[in-house]
Amino acid sequence: MRLLFIGGTGFISTAVSRMAIADGFELTVLNRGSRSADLPGAHHLIADIRRPGEVRAALANAEFDVVVDWIAYTPEDIERDLDLFRGRVKQYVFISSASAYQKPPAHYLITESTPLHNPYWEYSRGKIACEQRLMRAYRDDGFPATIVRPSLTYDTNLPIAIGGWGCYTLADRLNRGLPIIVHGDGSSLWVVTHADDFGRGLLGLLGNERALGEAFHITSDEVLTWNQIYLTIADALGVEAKIVHVPSDFIARVAPDLAGSLLGDKAWSAVFDNSKIKSFVPGFEATIPLREGISRALAWFAADESRRRVDQAVNVEMDRILEAYGRAFR
Ligand SMILES: NC(=O)c1ccc[n+]([C@@H]2O[C@H](COP(=O)([O-])OP(=O)(O)OC[C@H]3O[C@@H](n4cnc5c(N)ncnc54)[C@H](OP(=O)(O)O)[C@@H]3O)[C@@H](O)[C@H]2O)c1
Repeated sequence: MRLLFIGGTGFISTAVSRMAIADGFELTVLNRGSRSADLPGAHHLIADIRRPGEVRAALANAEFDVVVDWIAYTPEDIERDLDLFRGRVKQYVFISSASAYQKPPAHYLITESTPLHNPYWEYSRGKIACEQRLMRAYRDDGFPATIVRPSLTYDTNLPIAIGGWGCYTLADRLNRGLPIIVHGDGSSLWVVTHADDFGRGLLGLLGNERALGEAFHITSDEVLTWNQIYLTIADALGVEAKIVHVPSDFIARVAPDLAGSLLGDKAWSAVFDNSKIKSFVPGFEATIPLREGISRALAWFAADESRRRVDQAVNVEMDRILEAYGRAFR
């Protein structure tokens, strides 16, 4: 199967690209070529997806059975993809987000029928609008769309709510004995999924005609509290976590850039019913528990000092929240 990943060298997609090649897909990745992803066996097309002329030239007459767009966020992105791939592919997969599901949730258990509604996070509203445009294209013109909604998914990064994304900042703070922030009282329920598990589900949907016009989430069945997630990371580092619990509303007031991700996603309990992906992809089950995924991520960081990047802006923001919270009780 000829497969095109738009993106393909990102936090989730790198692992899935490797799995696709190992599974025998003929994989092409289209991106700007700015990351040193090691993908032996993949074909590379270099283009900035925001420059349609560049993308058309890169794609030229190449033919693909399936396209997965990892980096579409707005209906304009979908419109561009419809122009590029209408009548050219057998399946188009849009990587959406489980944050699109109703907030606040009316029920703790999320199925694919849970309404999509997120008044708190513009990112999620963009994903919802993308899904709606695609479903219209499916209904009206038979555009072969499949929607896949990851929830918090990780590989060479730490799956956390506060402490930076893709950097080593939180681990560095833990190692130095500095306080870290856990939103709320840390007891809400959450699910994190390893990219290898997510990839197994995603690849199982490719080429499956029954998946056209359908939406899926693909997550682990391991349900944890946020306290457990942070304590697992600290434990894997061999240190004690100095956790400061701070209400999400307070964090959002002091650090508005975190408001969407917290109030529109991680502040609420989220548990996923994965029956649908299991019924479409026989044998699918997430097999990597957090403890193992974290030790893999930390081994990746440990292998090369340049990977252990500390983001000072994240540190400054965490200290600012902690200071403001401390002041409120003085
Ligand atoms: N991780 C999660 O927890 C999570 C949860 C829910 C949803 N998602 C969704 O998952 C997707 C992220 O996937 P990911 O982790 O693989 O992505 P990512 O880490 O954001 O990686 C981005 C990929 O796209 C390429 N890229 C970025 N800008 C580009 C441009 N202008 N033109 C061409 N290529 C470009 C990058 O390569 P270059 O930089 O070399 O171009 C890279 O291959 C997003 O749609 C996100 O909303 C993720």
